[in-house]
Amino acid sequence: MPRPFVVGNWKMHKTVAEARALATAVRDGVRDFGDIDVAVAPPFTALAAVGEILKGSEVGLAGQTMHEAGKGAFTGEISPAMLRDAGCSHVILGHSERRHLFGETDQAVMKKARAALDHSLTPILCVGETLQERETSRTFDVVERQTEHALRHVTPEEAARSVVAYEPVWAIGTGKTASPEQAQEVHIFIRKLVARSHGDGVARAIRILYGGSVKPDNASSLIAEPDVDGALVGGACLEAPSFLGIVAASRT
Ligand code: PGA
Repeated sequence: MPRPFVVGNWKMHKTVAEARALATAVRDGVRDFGDIDVAVAPPFTALAAVGEILKGSEVGLAGQTMHEAGKGAFTGEISPAMLRDAGCSHVILGHSERRHLFGETDQAVMKKARAALDHSLTPILCVGETLQERETSRTFDVVERQTEHALRHVTPEEAARSVVAYEPVWAIGTGKTASPEQAQEVHIFIRKLVARSHGDGVARAIRILYGGSVKPDNASSLIAEPDVDGALVGGACLEAPSFLGIVAASRT
């Protein structure tokens, strides 16, 4: 069983001062939890400040997205090396808000995954279907296409330490969580895709998180599913008690 992993995606929330306070509470709150990995993804403006607070702690730091190029004329973007410089160990790629609100394509996620690994950043690769895709029985096609692209140029050794997050778009920020059975069904499908593309050992090692309205009171039933290795949390990670509640509930 891979070690559980819980990631808080702060999205476009928190000033630097607020970010410092939340990061401090998370760092101190997980101090005695030796049996779980935790990371937070603050907005870019707070990365360096949060990185200072988390330095030397167990809590990882993640970017919420990044550009695949090393540097250049890409106004508003941020490079893998800049994320590393701010103290990041991880980067969220292909989040559904990036895909649906900002037009990020499968091809772009494919390039970003490669660039992240080239800079020693662990990619958290988000996949998931919209409500319309689920209702027209296209969930597995969409998840297959997105997963296959994201991992296409990733070696087996790199894939084994990468992270996939299954986030059904209809469950993000809506309060509608996938049932544990719905999550498990897609998670095992993703694991089989990884087995096919990268081998059985990689499929066993890769961590597959669930995201979409995870809360302290539903986290343990989701994580109890055999192929759910943790959670990518949005709304419920913005306050330390609820995020720490999810982390506690995700310990196995
Ligand atoms: P949510 O967001 O927990 O607010 O549904 C999850 C995510 O977007 O990662």
